[in-house]
Parts: sequence; structure tokens; C-alpha cells
Amino acid sequence: MNQGTSSSTVGIDAIAIATPRAYLDLVDLAAARDVPSDKYTKGLGAIRMAIAGRHEDPVTLATDAASRLFARGGVDASRIGYVAVGTETGIDHSKPVASYVHGLLGLPAACRVFDTKHACFGGTAALMGAVEWIASGAARGRSALVVCSDIARYALGSPGEPTQGAGAVALLVTERPRLLELEVGHTGTYARDVHDFWRPLSRRDALVDGHYSVSCYLDAVAGAFGAWRDEDVRRGGGALARTAYHVPYVKMAKKADRHRAIACEGLDEAAAESRFAREVGPSLAFAAEVGNVYTGSLYMALAALLHAEAGVLEGERVGLFSYGSGCVAEFFAGRVAAGAAAVAESLALDEPLRDRVRLDFGAYEAIRRADGDEPAGVTADDAVDVASDRCAFVGIDAAERRVYRRASHGSTPRADAANTAAA
Ligand code: HMG
Repeated sequence: MNQGTSSSTVGIDAIAIATPRAYLDLVDLAAARDVPSDKYTKGLGAIRMAIAGRHEDPVTLATDAASRLFARGGVDASRIGYVAVGTETGIDHSKPVASYVHGLLGLPAACRVFDTKHACFGGTAALMGAVEWIASGAARGRSALVVCSDIARYALGSPGEPTQGAGAVALLVTERPRLLELEVGHTGTYARDVHDFWRPLSRRDALVDGHYSVSCYLDAVAGAFGAWRDEDVRRGGGALARTAYHVPYVKMAKKADRHRAIACEGLDEAAAESRFAREVGPSLAFAAEVGNVYTGSLYMALAALLHAEAGVLEGERVGLFSYGSGCVAEFFAGRVAAGAAAVAESLALDEPLRDRVRLDFGAYEAIRRADGDEPAGVTADDAVDVASDRCAFVGIDAAERRVYRRASHGSTPRADAANTAAA
């Protein structure tokens, strides 16, 4: 049996994000719901939330994020042997989002392709599998594409509504990564069977026991961080310079870090407050602009952190906390690679957040009320009014297959013909 790549490092080589074209400003939502806007902007820390339109879904967002990863990250797609999509926005009971992404991107046929699901933890499950695939030696020098892609939706007018969002994060996982070297095999995990958040098969909007979900998240921080720290002390791991959290809304990351600081590490309120500003604040800029992106949320925070601070963090240790309702959590860490600042700059991580379209409240409600009314009865030749550089969900054909268009690859469902064999 192969003994793995113990002399090498494994981790995140490149990152890219994708968001829908449109967003709703939380001030507009607050006015429509007759709520003081400070409750959303200060109480939750939410400024804007991305809203997916009729031609955007988990496949298009994932494909756009991965396309950006390949273009900006200089990725050799022929070296990919593993494609995993973490998502809780299922579009089919059987066919995974990952198969569409694999086809639309024309990735090698010699590839392990699948989705992973456990609420917001699905992306981390996919990442851990990729890291272990490479570290075990099974990858034989190939790379893994991990994409987290979701649309976060709650009922109109519900307390969860201001914490919606949509987006995808694509990660290239390799040996000798250029951004973040992960500490393989050193993680703290925590799980408990709770009903804090769920989405029955018949529903498009999530159901949530909101305040209970916050306390479940905090219990999971204590459990996973505590397990990680016990092992870290044994290993003599050293200090963390920054920590990125799962960010369902910005204030939640603050609550999480404060709970860890006070309950787990014995800091006082003032020390917890200044640590949060220094060690967590820089990772929250993208989440405030996009909202909850479920599986991608932690990795959106990592992208924001590297975008803001990769230069000062080279050689430093960064902690990562992933939470999935239901629930499971994992705390782990990595070291920012030498040269990461130049790589982060070339990735232009914030580019998808520019040039978005602000929806007025009426347009937002119209999109939501039309949901479930997916574009149907289409043929692969139907025109779609989307930017040519974006993937689009065209509709559902007569055989109930989902049809997509990507400018440089044409349409599915016949995309398998475009695939090429692995090197
Ligand atoms: P709520 O009950 O409407 O809000 O919903 P609230 O009354 O708790 O107020 C929120 C904050 O605003 C409070 O601050 C208020 O004090 C403050 P805090 O005490 O928490 O620090 N506030 C104001 N601040 C300034 N000016 C004002 C003002 N008024 C109030 N005028 C809740 C909040 C989070 C429950 C709701 O939005 C919700 O249900 N969200 C969805 C669930 C969620 O995000 N849970 C997070 C943990 S679970 C998780 O992360 C997993 C998840 O991502 C799913 C998955 O894993 O798949 C959700």
C-alpha cells in the first residue's frame, strides 16, 4: 500500500468565489419589513445579501467559481482527478451537482465525482476527503477540485430572511499548495443529533429554530475547538494568528470567537473584544456583502482573509471552524504559504463582488414569489439573457433533464462528450 505523501504538504493552492449578479440591500429589506435597519446592519452585521435569479442555481454558481479558479489560478484542468461539490441546495434526488460541473468544465474522465451533504458542513467533508485522498498517495500527483455552492433561503418575512444569501467557493487542493498548508490529520470534531435547522424534501425554504441554532453552534465551537486544542497542546502546535469561522451572519462569528475566548480560553470581555477585531474581523468583509452561502461560508471567510491580509500572514497559522446544522463541526488549522500574497493578488478574489445589480424590494419579492416556476419546456437552443461569461440554467427539457449553457462549452445534458481522458 502507498505510504502517502508525509514528506510533502497538502492544502489549498487556489481559491475563487462566485455570486449571483443581483443583491438586496438590507436597508431596503428593513424598510419593507418595518424593522429598524440597525437591527440588520449592526445587530446581525449584514449589509447586502446576494439573490439568485431564474437562471442561477447551485450548478451555475459552482461552474462560475470553478471557471474563475481555472482562469485566475492558472490551473491545469487535465491534472484533476477528484471533483466534489458540497451543497445542501439539491436540484435532483440522484444526479449530483458535481456531474454537471464536471461536464460543463470538460474535466478528465478518470475522475472521482460526487456531492457531499451535511448542511453547511458539506464543503468541509468534501475538502477533508480531498486532502486525505492526496495525503494517502492515491492521487498520484493529481489535484482535487472542491466546490461549495448554495442558495440560502428562508420564508419571506421570517426572522431568518435577513440572513439569506447565495454563492459558491471553488478550492484547488494540491500537494505543495501556494496558499494554505493544512495540518493533515490534526482536527477537532464534535457532533450531536439536534433539530436546529432542516429543510424537508418538499420545501425550497429552510426551517430553523433560530435562537436554538445559535446555541447549538456555540456548543459546537466549544466541543470542536476543545478537542483540537487538547491535541494541539500535545503536539506543541503554537499560536493561531487568525481564525476564520462559518459565517451564517457576521455577528455569529463574533459570538463564536467570544464564546471560545471566554468559555474555553479564560479571556475577559475586553481581551475577547480586541482579539475578535484583530484576528476575526478581516475575514468578514465578503460575508457582509453576500450573506450566508451555507457550505461555502467558511471558505468565503478564508478568501476574504487572504484577500485582505495574505501579505502579513505568510508563515503564520490560521484556524478554521466549520459548522453544519444537525449537527457536526470541525476545527482545524493551516499555515499561510510563503508567496501567498502574490497568489492571492493574482486571484483577484473580490472581483465577483464588483458590478452587481441592486434589486429594489419589489423585484426581490417577485423573484421569490416566482420560485418553483422554473424555466421549463426549453430546448438546448433557447436563448438566455445572461452575461456571456456566465454559466446559465436554461430550463428543463421534455425528458425532465436540466439544461445549462456555458459560453465556451455549449449546453448539457450531452456534455459528457466533451470530456477528455486523464493524463
Ligand atoms: P431575531 O430573533 O429576529 O433577532 O433573529 P434578535 O432579536 O435575536 O436580534 C438579533 C441581534 O440584533 C441581537 O443582537 C439584538 O440585540 C440586535 P445579539 O443580542 O444577538 O448580539 N438588535 C439590534 N441591534 C441594533 N439596533 C437595533 C436592534 N434590534 C435588535 N435596533 C436569528 C435572529 C439569528 C435567530 C435569525 O436571523 C435566524 O433565525 N437566522 C437563521 C438561523 C441562523 O443563521 N443560525 C445561526 C447558527 S446555525 C448555522 O450557522 C447553520 C446554518 O448556516 C445552516 C446550515 O448549517 O446549513 C444556518
